[in-house]
Parts: sequence; structure tokens; C-alpha cells
Amino acid sequence: MQERIAPLIDARAAGRQLIVPTRRTPPTGEPRDKLQRPLRDLRISVTDRCNFRCNYCMPKEVFDKRYKYLPHSSLLTFEEIARIAAAFSQHGVRKIRLTGGEPLLRKNLDRLVEQLAQLSTPAGNPLELTLTTNASLLATKAAELKAAGLSRVNISLDALDDATFRRMNDVGFPVSKVLAGIEAAQTVGFSRIKVNMVVKRGTNDHEVIPMARYFYGTGVTLRFIEYMDVGATNGWLMSEVLPSSEVISRIQATLPLVPLPPANDGETAVRWGYTDGAGRYDPALGEIGVISSVTRAFCGDCNRIRLSTDGKLYLCLYASQGWDLTRLLRAGKSDVDLAAAIATLWEQRSDRYSELRGMTGPAIEKTARRIEMSYIGG
Ligand code: GTP
Ligand code: 5AD
Ligand code: SF4
Ligand code: SF4
Repeated sequence: MQERIAPLIDARAAGRQLIVPTRRTPPTGEPRDKLQRPLRDLRISVTDRCNFRCNYCMPKEVFDKRYKYLPHSSLLTFEEIARIAAAFSQHGVRKIRLTGGEPLLRKNLDRLVEQLAQLSTPAGNPLELTLTTNASLLATKAAELKAAGLSRVNISLDALDDATFRRMNDVGFPVSKVLAGIEAAQTVGFSRIKVNMVVKRGTNDHEVIPMARYFYGTGVTLRFIEYMDVGATNGWLMSEVLPSSEVISRIQATLPLVPLPPANDGETAVRWGYTDGAGRYDPALGEIGVISSVTRAFCGDCNRIRLSTDGKLYLCLYASQGWDLTRLLRAGKSDVDLAAAIATLWEQRSDRYSELRGMTGPAIEKTARRIEMSYIGG
């Protein structure tokens, strides 16, 4: 296991210069990329740190005491993040997701949430403001986040079996505290809570059925994520991917399911609903989702852009370089300039990594230094 972990080559500094176009068209709210995909979802990483060491994301051997996290001076301030988010909201972004690392490690995150909650779309609708967290600090922070205007939370949990979960987070964190975080989120009034389970064959795939049973009928949507070859350090192997088709067939055998239509454009998950005795979807029993980046790429309608902790824009989860927005911000560019630079960047985008990998196989793997997920956010 350990020998598969690759050393980290630091690609973070390699930001490309973002250009403000000379001809500035006013934001239309509808820029399209080269594949005609709109811009809808901004994922903001607020810290590159995490208190877990999930082997598929921040393996202990790489993210150890010697690892150099970003210096404080390079982090975007809350005011800078809010300014960037406002520019994106003019360009059609409808959902903002705060991620990390572990976003709740960033001090006073509720103050950022408060600022972002003021934003609206050009049509005057509020943005959906969401958070992806490991829930280790959620029990203490759920109430203030809700009060600050957070709309939803997605929580990562890879197993119910304590020994398996402790092994996977690799810091001995107990399942009971994550469950307490989920409960706290429910108690303070969050609805549409999702739980994300990364499935690794041979590590936690025996937990697929227990997890499905546990969340069945609770109103919490459990989503199974195929273990991805993201980043460059996790020693990914195809043999450890449990294809979503297999997840569905295993669950079907005990808890009958029917396919459901997508809830939103460009959704990561394919939805399946639990059925009543007559074989019809029963909303009271709820639904599950499968996120199949490896076996069924969903780049075709990918409307996501990522903002790293130090203010670089990434057009794809698998990108090797980001576009330096901080430089424009700190050079005193106007809001109009920022918005124009963002639209122009999006219009040049043609990224579709997972789809290409699916077509060409491993040939395009390892072509470039990929950025770590803890830096740009899942
Ligand atoms: P919802 O808005 O609730 O649907 O959440 P989401 O799925 O957009 O966000 P979340 O942070 O819960 O992401 C769940 C998982 O989907 C992540 O862990 C990633 O593994 C995967 N994922 C999210 N965005 C992308 C993407 O753009 N490309 C790929 N390949 N995987 C993604
Ligand atoms: N494959 C799949 N999902 C991953 N995540 C982190 N690394 C990987 C990977 N290699 C997931 C986390 C969390 C989300 C933010 O990203 O489990 O649910
Ligand atoms: Fe931390 Fe989430 Fe990565 Fe695990 S998957 S190390 S909880 S950021
Ligand atoms: Fe979007 Fe890149 Fe993920 Fe494809 S691989 S869905 S283009 S982020």
C-alpha cells in the first residue's frame, strides 16, 4: 500500500496569467464555454488544511509534518472571496459550495457565509449556498452556519463500522462524532442533507449495504462516489474502484430502486429512488445517488469552476494549472474588469478530463502534474 503513494510535486505556484480583455461586454449571465456549457456552480476552497488523512485524498505519508501548506498571506480574505463570488453571480452562477481541505477549520467561516448569503442572481433570486464537510466540527458550528444563511450541507462518511472508518480517515476519528454532526445539522433545521461515501473495493465496499440501510427512510440522501484518480499522490488503482453499476445491483437485491430524473442541470450524481410495495418511487423512503466519474463521466454538462484557497481558478478537477485571479484583485482591477476576465476565461474552456480518459484509457493519465483535491476542493 505505502509504496504506491507518490511523492508530491508542488504545482500550486504555477498560476497562469489571467487577462482582462480590452473589449468588455457587460455580463450577460450566460457565458458558454467551447462545448456550450453554461457557468452555474462555483466551488470555493477556503483552506488547504484538513484534520483527517483520508488515504484517497491526503495520504499521511505525503501530508506529514514537513508538508508546506499555503502561507497565510496567500489566502484570499473573506472580502476578496465575496467580491469574486459577486462577479460570478453576474455570470450565471447559481450555487456556491464552500470546500477545503476541511472548510470548518477556517476561522469564523460563518462570517463568510453571511457575506455570501447577500448575493443574488441577475434575476434577483438568492444563490444556493452549500458546504461540503467531514462534520468533525459540525456539531458545534451547525447553528451559527444556519443562522448565517447557509442553505445546505453535504457530509463525508465512508463507513458505519468504526474500525473501518478510523482506518480510512487515518487519524482514528470515530463514526459517532460524524453521526452527531449529522444530527446537529438536522436539529438546527438543515434539510436535503447528503452524505458522501467514497467506495474503495476491498477497503469499505462491505459497508455499502449497512450504509444504505442506515439512511433508508431518514430523509438523508446517501451518495456513493467512485474512487477517483484525482491528484497525484493517492496511488490510485482501477482494481480498487467499485463501479456504480455494482453498487446499484447490490442495493437492488435487498432494497428495490427505480431510476429518478436529474434534479438539476449538470448534476454530479445519478439519482435512484426507493420503492413502495407497488414498485413506485416513495419519497418518504428517499433516494440515493451514484457519482460515477470513472465509469460514466459527466463532463458533457459540467458547469463547475473551482477557486483555490490562494485565488486561482481551475476549469477542471483534473487541471494541472490554475488562472491567477489574486494578481488581478491585488492590482486594483475594477469589478467590471474582474467579471470580464472571468467570462473570457470561461469562453475559452474545453476541459473534459474524465470523458477523455474514458475514451482513450490510461494514455492521458500522468500527462501533467495534477493538482491535489485538498487544494482546489472536491
Ligand atoms: P450537490 O450540489 O449536493 O449535488 O453536491 P455536489 O455533488 O456538486 O458536491 P459534493 O462536494 O458533495 O461532491 C461530491 C463528489 O462529487 C465529490 O467528492 C467529487 O468526488 C465529485 N465531484 C464533484 N464535482 C466534480 C466534478 O466536477 N468532476 C468530477 N469528476 N467529480 C466531481
Ligand atoms: N475519489 C473520490 N472522492 C474523493 N474525495 C476526495 N478525494 C477523492 C477521491 N480520490 C471526496 C471526499 C468528499 C469530497 C469533498 O471529495 O470524500 O466527499
Ligand atoms: Fe479531509 Fe475530506 Fe480529504 Fe478526507 S476527503 S482528507 S476529510 S478533505
Ligand atoms: Fe467537469 Fe473536469 Fe469533472 Fe469532467 S472531469 S466533470 S470537466 S471537473
